[in-house]
Amino acid sequence: MTVAFGLKERTAAGIGAQRVPFDSVPVIDLGPLRSGDPAGKRRTADAIGRACEEIGFIYIANHGVPQDLIDHTFAEAKRFFALPLAAKMKIPLKDSANYRGYFPLKEEKTDVTAMGDLKEGFDLMRELGPDDPDVRAGKPLHGPNQWPDDLPGFRASILGYYAAMEELAKTLLRGMALSLDLDENWFADKTKKPLAYLRLLHYPPQKGMIDEREIGCGAHSDYGCLTILAQDQVGGLQLRNSAGQWIEAPPIPGAFVINLGDQMARWTNERFQATPHRVINRSGKERYSIPFFFDPDFDAVIECLPSCQGPGNPPKHKPITGGEHLLGMLNATFK
Ligand code: OGA
Ligand code: NI
Repeated sequence: MTVAFGLKERTAAGIGAQRVPFDSVPVIDLGPLRSGDPAGKRRTADAIGRACEEIGFIYIANHGVPQDLIDHTFAEAKRFFALPLAAKMKIPLKDSANYRGYFPLKEEKTDVTAMGDLKEGFDLMRELGPDDPDVRAGKPLHGPNQWPDDLPGFRASILGYYAAMEELAKTLLRGMALSLDLDENWFADKTKKPLAYLRLLHYPPQKGMIDEREIGCGAHSDYGCLTILAQDQVGGLQLRNSAGQWIEAPPIPGAFVINLGDQMARWTNERFQATPHRVINRSGKERYSIPFFFDPDFDAVIECLPSCQGPGNPPKHKPITGGEHLLGMLNATFK
C-alpha cells in the first residue's frame, strides 16, 4: 500500500506541497519482522531498506504499540500543554544541564537560518537517577528529567510510552541491519543505554500570510539515528524530495511515520537518507505530535558500516561517538 501525496489545488505560493519525484511513501507492515519466519523478515527488511535508500521516510503499520497507549499519551500531552505558562516555565529546558524540560514558542530554531519555531514542547530522555554510574561520573547528557508537579500520573504514562518506543526502535534497527546485510543484532551492543529523546509537541495554528522563515517547525533533517513520529489527524508535515519540492506526509490512522537522521546517513555512508522535512499548521486547529528520536549509546562509535563501503566507495565521514554528535546538534538548535 502506498499513499499519494500532495494535491496541486491545495498548494499556496511558497508554503504548499506538490506532487513530484518521490510522490508516495510506502506503508510497511511490521508484523513479519516482529514475529515472522525468516523469509517474511527478509521481505520486510528489504522493503524497509529500499524506502530508507530512496525516500528516507516510511509509514509503519502493525507495529505492536497499542492504540490505547498512543491515544493516552496524546491526552497526557494535551493535559500538559493546557497548564498555565507559568507552571510550564517552572521546568524550563533552557536552564537544564541535560536538555530536558519545557520550551515555549519560538525558543527552538530547528532551521538555524530561520526564526524560532511556532511550537512549544516538553523533552525528556532516559530517566536516570542520582545513583546511575554515568550520572555520578558527570557524563554529559546523563541526568534526571524535569517533571511538572501538578499532573498526577503524567510521569508514569510518558515513561511507559518511552519504553514502548525504545522497543519499537530496536525492532526497526533489526530490520535495517538485515537490509544492510548485517547480522540482525548488529546494532544491539551500540544501543544498550541509548540517549533516546522523546518530545511532546504542540503547534498552534498559523493564520494569514505565512513567511517560510517562521513556521511550526523549520526545515531540517533529524540528527539521530531514526525517528518514530506519532502525529495527530491535523496534518502539516511536509518532506522535501530530491527535486527540492515539498511533499505532504498526511496522517494515517494507526501508523507511525519513521524517518532517518543524520547519524544513520553517516553510519551507512549516505546509503540511507536523512530527508529534510518541516511542519506548517494551517489547519485552523491545534496540532499535537510526539516524535521519539533514537540515538545510540553515548560512547558508541558511529563508523561507516562494513557493508556500506568498498573499492570505489570509501567512507565519506570520520568516526564520531553518539554523544559528540548529539551534543553538537543540541547546542546548535537551542538559543
Ligand atoms: C521534529 C519533527 C515533526 C512533527 O521534531 O524533528 O520533524 O510532526 N517533527 O512534529
Ligand atoms: Ni524532524
